[in-house]
Amino acid sequence: MSNEAKLELDGKTFTLPTLTGSENEKAVDISALRANTGYITIDDGYGNTGSCTSNITFIDGDKGILRYRGIPIEELAEKSNFVETAYLIIYGELPNHAQLKKFSDLFTENQYLHEDMKFHFQGFPGGAHPMAILSAMINAASCFDDDLMRWQWGRNKQFDIYVARLLSQVRTIAAYSYRKSKGLPLIYPKQSYKYTANFLHMLFSTPYEDFELKPEVVKALDLIFLLHADHEQNCSTSTVRMVASSQANLFASCAAGVCALWGPLHGGANQAVLEMLAQIHKEGDDGSKFITAAKDKNSGKKLMGFGHRVYKNHDPRAKIIKKACDEVLSKLHITDPLLDIAKKLEEAALKDPYFVERKLYPNVDFYSGIIMRAIGIPVEMFTVIFAIGRMPGWIANYKEIMEEPKSRIYRPRQIYTGKTINEFVPLDKRK
Ligand code: CMC
Repeated sequence: MSNEAKLELDGKTFTLPTLTGSENEKAVDISALRANTGYITIDDGYGNTGSCTSNITFIDGDKGILRYRGIPIEELAEKSNFVETAYLIIYGELPNHAQLKKFSDLFTENQYLHEDMKFHFQGFPGGAHPMAILSAMINAASCFDDDLMRWQWGRNKQFDIYVARLLSQVRTIAAYSYRKSKGLPLIYPKQSYKYTANFLHMLFSTPYEDFELKPEVVKALDLIFLLHADHEQNCSTSTVRMVASSQANLFASCAAGVCALWGPLHGGANQAVLEMLAQIHKEGDDGSKFITAAKDKNSGKKLMGFGHRVYKNHDPRAKIIKKACDEVLSKLHITDPLLDIAKKLEEAALKDPYFVERKLYPNVDFYSGIIMRAIGIPVEMFTVIFAIGRMPGWIANYKEIMEEPKSRIYRPRQIYTGKTINEFVPLDKRK
């Protein structure tokens, strides 16, 4: 069988090459289509467009499979932790003892922000959303390093140091963003704490008393980071690649990722889920009225935390997180009426023909908000937690673009549907 595609256009037949990925995913290569035929393709929302080849993450949405560098997410969730998984995603292999120690030591060495950055935090108004502060401050951090300001891939100090600095400092910036938004004094990181414990310390300790680090709380948050660590060409990762393709520096590219993640259809969904559940609870609804509204296109409501562009069976992260959610709540002896509403909503939606026919299942955000609430993370920090978790994926995609010798600037085309040539009317003659 031929592995070329044939396209008939304007009475001519054109041949298009195809390519097959390592998991048998197939694509028609249209990169020479316009040059050969004068046509471009249109694919609103990029649902059928492969923007790159990548060897970082594999998803089979029909089967509910997610693997980082070939390792199933279920296995990583059980046996690994966020820092080790971050190394795997960025460098392609699980680290040995020495590599992991070096990686962790670099985090500790690079965890402090430049002291002058504190003045930038002061400029934000109280109540500013931590996602706005996070993206601004990641970008601002690049102003404190000459090499980042004059970034040229391959000519900078070791990339590894910037990787560690970004991964480590995103946690410091995130914690400071929250404390700033609440008018609380900033808490410095501690040398002796590991990644996730240190974040909780910076978020919740006071100048007088260290936050009590319950192991189940640290473990649950670490799992949330790990489950979010990469997810192939989603909206924020594609944004990072888009910015990186112009040869912008690592911090600028990842700050753009934070902005893309903020929206409620992407990372902002975890905050939106909790707000939805709280609203349902407040109105005394058991979820059934909300489900009816979510099916009505005129209501302006959606069942947040449901549906996914890629997963059409189940989101494997949601399965893991639902189990973790039950465990954490039972260990911490918490009963949460919002969890009961979430379970009822899920049960009802999974039986409802509207959701079944459209293959809408709970996604990672449906239960992650409940765990975060249980462990005391403020709701406006939910998407920030997602951003910290996604950082390894953004960095790995940045690195992949930079290491690709044939990489070009991302520059899609469009079909113009506006006015054809138009006359300039002087101001005093306009109606
Ligand atoms: N509630 C009600 N209807 C929905 C929902 C939902 N959550 N999601 C999709 N639909 C409907 C949609 O209206 C459309 O109906 P119809 O065919 O009658 O026009 C159909 O299902 C197909 O949806 P779509 O809009 O083509 O799906 P998409 O691939 O463009 O969007 C999505 C995917 C995740 C943005 C969407 O499902 C959604 O808005 N979900 C709620 C927000 C959410 O939970 N986002 C987090 C995604 S997971 C975290 C991440 O990776 O970002």
